[in-house]
Formats: sequence, C-alpha cells, structure tokens
Amino acid sequence: MASIAIGSDDRVFVLTGAGISAESGLATFRASDGLWAGHRVEDVCTPEALEQNPALVWQFYSERRAQGAKAQPNPAHIALATLEAELGDRFFLCTQNVDDLHERAGSVRLLHMHGELAMSRCEDECGRAPVEDRKVYASLDEVTRCACGARLRPHIVFFGEMPLGMERIQKEIARATVMVVIGTSGSVYPAANFVNWARQNRARTVYVGPERPLNAAAFTTIVEGKAGEVLPGLFAVAGR
Ligand SMILES: NC(=O)c1ccc[n+]([C@@H]2O[C@H](COP(=O)([O-])OP(=O)(O)OC[C@H]3O[C@@H](n4cnc5c(N)ncnc54)[C@H](O)[C@@H]3O)[C@@H](O)[C@H]2O)c1
Ligand SMILES: [Zn+2]
Repeated sequence: MASIAIGSDDRVFVLTGAGISAESGLATFRASDGLWAGHRVEDVCTPEALEQNPALVWQFYSERRAQGAKAQPNPAHIALATLEAELGDRFFLCTQNVDDLHERAGSVRLLHMHGELAMSRCEDECGRAPVEDRKVYASLDEVTRCACGARLRPHIVFFGEMPLGMERIQKEIARATVMVVIGTSGSVYPAANFVNWARQNRARTVYVGPERPLNAAAFTTIVEGKAGEVLPGLFAVAGR
C-alpha cells in the first residue's frame, strides 16, 4: 500500500470532507444525488431557506445533531489525531465537516471552516459570540433566544456565506509542505481550491477517497480507498 513519508522538516495541512465521517454512519451528500439526508441543499442550507422556512432548517439541523451525537469517530479520525500527537505544531487540520468526530478522536489543532453542529449564534448578527448548543429542538418555538431577543440560528456556514477562519487557513497552507485531502468531492469552493494554493508553494498533495474528486488533476498522489482503511497505515513519520 502507498505510504506518505513525513520528514522532520515537513509541515502537514489536512483538509477533510464528509467522506471521512461516512464510515461513522453520517451521510455525505453527493453520494445520494445531491441530497443531504433526503433534503435538497437549497431547502436547508442557504440564507434564503432560513428566512423562508426556519422550522425546516432547524428540524434538519436538530436531526443532524441527534445523529452526530450517536456516531463514533472511526479509524480515520483516530489516525489523524495520532499523527497530530506525533507532529505537534507541524500539523494543522481544516475540516468542512460540521460534526465533532475529529475533536472526539483527540484532534486539537483543528478549524471548522463550515461551522459546527454543536453551536448556535444570533440570527440577527447582533455581535454576540456563538454559543455551545447541542439541543435537539422539536419545534421552532423551543429554539433558544439570543440575549438580544432574536432567535438563534445554527452556527453553520450556508451556501453563499463566507467560510470561517480563511486568514488562518491561508497562513497554514502557505507554510505546509504536504497537503492531505480526504473524502471531499472537490465541488465546494473555496475548499476545492486549497490544493492549488498548496501546489503554488510546491507542497506534495495527496488525495484519499474511494473515487477521484472533481479536482483530481491537481494532486500529485491519489490513494484510492476508504479513509478508515487507508489512513491508519498511510503516514511514515521520520523517527517514529
Ligand atoms: N459529517 C458532516 O459534517 C457533513 C456531512 C454531509 C455534508 N456536510 C457538508 O456538506 C459539504 C459537502 O462537501 P464534501 O465535499 O465534504 O462532501 P460530498 O458529500 O460532496 O462528497 C463526499 C466525498 O466523500 C467521498 N467518500 C465517501 N465515502 C468515503 C470514505 N469511506 N472515505 C473517504 N472518502 C469517502 C466520496 O467519494 C465523495 O467524494 C461540506 O461543506 C460539509 O460542510 C457535512
Ligand atoms: Zn443577538
């Protein structure tokens, strides 16, 4: 099986997508004709959906919370936490996922660029920070209010909204010598472009997943397989 050599001067930037959580039982969406858990993304994952049908949006994210709480990290999440323990500050993980399986596996140097299921924030953007919120709401009336009186919304980056932490991400990609992208279809931007930014800095770029992503041509290495089967044996860390 392929292995990726990580030398003592290497810095590793990892980008994960829905595919890394597939073996934990959480649905990806491209896998099912562009539906996410039975819903059209436009109906549950856009600012317009929140405005027009907040009850459906909250029902959808409440279901995702309930499912996420039942799921367990799989060997792929654990392999990344193990790699981080070995590399320390030479490791950075950016995830497009909104579940918390990476942190439950032990990852610490981690950024959720598309937000987090376990958090909510003010729908009116009054300036108060996002708050932890793992509640599964049975109806819109139950949804917690912000101190300003407005309803909370899921702390999720909807389609058409700005991803979180882009400055930090750019800085981390600029100094990475190895980029590893796992389980993402390469169709959501700007994440699908990260591999090109890494190449501009002459980083090695590796993709791991059962099928080729849309941006496959940008990778120096493609390792075909399920993340949970490939990742535990993938990294050959110097001095291990
Ligand atoms: N778990 C989650 O948090 C979750 C789940 C679904 C969607 N989303 C959101 O939707 C967007 C989806 O875009 P995306 O590109 O991440 O996902 P996607 O659904 O577009 O693509 C999933 C990718 O995972 C791959 N895959 C499937 N099984 C795999 C496995 N066992 N190992 C490795 N790869 C596997 C598929 O080949 C596919 O390329 C993201 O922005 C994300 O925020 C999040
Ligand atoms: Zn508020």
